[in-house]
Amino acid sequence: MTILVTGGAGYIGSHAAVELLKKGHNIVILDNLSNSNFESINRIRELTDKDFPFYNCDLLDRDKLNTIFEIHNFDSVIHFAGLKSVGESVEIPLKYYQNNIIGTINLCDLMAKHDVKKLVFSSSATVYGHPNKVPIDESFPLSSTNPYGRTKLMIEDILRDLYTSDTSWRIALLRYFNPIGAHESGRIGENPNGIPNNLMPYITQVAIEKREKLFVFGKDYETHDGTGVRDFIHVIDLVKGHLKALQYLDENEGVEAFNLGTGSGYSVLDIIDTFSMINKKDIPYEFVDRRPGDVAICYANPAKAEEMLGWRAEKDLKEMCKDSLKWQTDNPYGYE
Ligand code: NAD
Ligand code: UD1
Repeated sequence: MTILVTGGAGYIGSHAAVELLKKGHNIVILDNLSNSNFESINRIRELTDKDFPFYNCDLLDRDKLNTIFEIHNFDSVIHFAGLKSVGESVEIPLKYYQNNIIGTINLCDLMAKHDVKKLVFSSSATVYGHPNKVPIDESFPLSSTNPYGRTKLMIEDILRDLYTSDTSWRIALLRYFNPIGAHESGRIGENPNGIPNNLMPYITQVAIEKREKLFVFGKDYETHDGTGVRDFIHVIDLVKGHLKALQYLDENEGVEAFNLGTGSGYSVLDIIDTFSMINKKDIPYEFVDRRPGDVAICYANPAKAEEMLGWRAEKDLKEMCKDSLKWQTDNPYGYE
């Protein structure tokens, strides 16, 4: 029983790989290292004391991908590989459609050819667009506000069509809220290129004085303190949801979407306060204009995942802030 992990050198995939190996699963990692570093593969091996095949392979390279399916007898696939920068997707949409959509089509086509029909897909809360209310449950209307979000939405549609055409598929669409934190060892973590787009990597870079101050995007949202509210979830809790989803797919056919969030919303200022308090670090910040496309409040109703997968997030915001800083402090230049 071997699990193919696409994008396993990346932030979430590397944490999932550690968790899968710890639980005794055999894995194969495939990644083109376009947004990651081979060093994360070394660290997964170091943390687990286990070896596994790694392929530097692009999902767009169908022939190479087919060879991997010929070599290994996969039971299931966890599909993390994809490009994820919202801003870049607006500037270079075709790159996103090509990479995320064609990559997923190639993957599914070869899965079908080799009779591998269990798939866990990395979707995102971005598929809820601008939600009318919170908490968000899986039955909310879906929409997208940028090309990145549209790739997630289109892939969800493609996967639903695939199931309609062949009901032996078993597919979990995991809609992540805001993953932060890192493995407690500080050996693997999020490794953004250049200036971080997301809140937590920016804060940790301010904390180690790599950046002077945080820019808080907007202070007049209709939230308890005027700043944006999100559902931050520890990456370790998030990846545990994938193991539960695999178990669920062992017992159930169909295509099913699950929110992976904590169910609690915290504002940008809440994060700064908790981060400063737990790490005893001052985070200088300045209010600037809202970031175009941002929603005021986004948090999950995670009840479906609890009922159907038996999963719920356990780690609190303090642990998320502590582990995020440990990774950054121990690896000020990421994996380089
Ligand atoms: P990441 O960039 O760290 O990891 C993605 C990995 O996929 C990278 O290692 C990259 O090199 C690889 N990859 C990209 N295109 C590929 C291709 N064509 N062939 C082979 N490998 C390829 O990102 P992450 O944060 O670990 O996210 C994993 C998945 O979860 C992505 O699909 C992302 O869209 C989704 N997601 C992430 C977040 C988040 O906040 N991090 C939120 C919601 C959804
Ligand atoms: C962003 C993406 C979303 C993606 C998610 C996880 C956008 C518009 N949305 O969501 O599609 O799924 O990341 O990768 O990019 N903030 C600041 N200063 C900063 C950075 C962020 O104030 O330097 C604020 C934001 O305005 C927001 C909150 O912090 O209110 C969280 O931002 P971020 O971490 O980028 O996540 P999302 O906006 O939820």
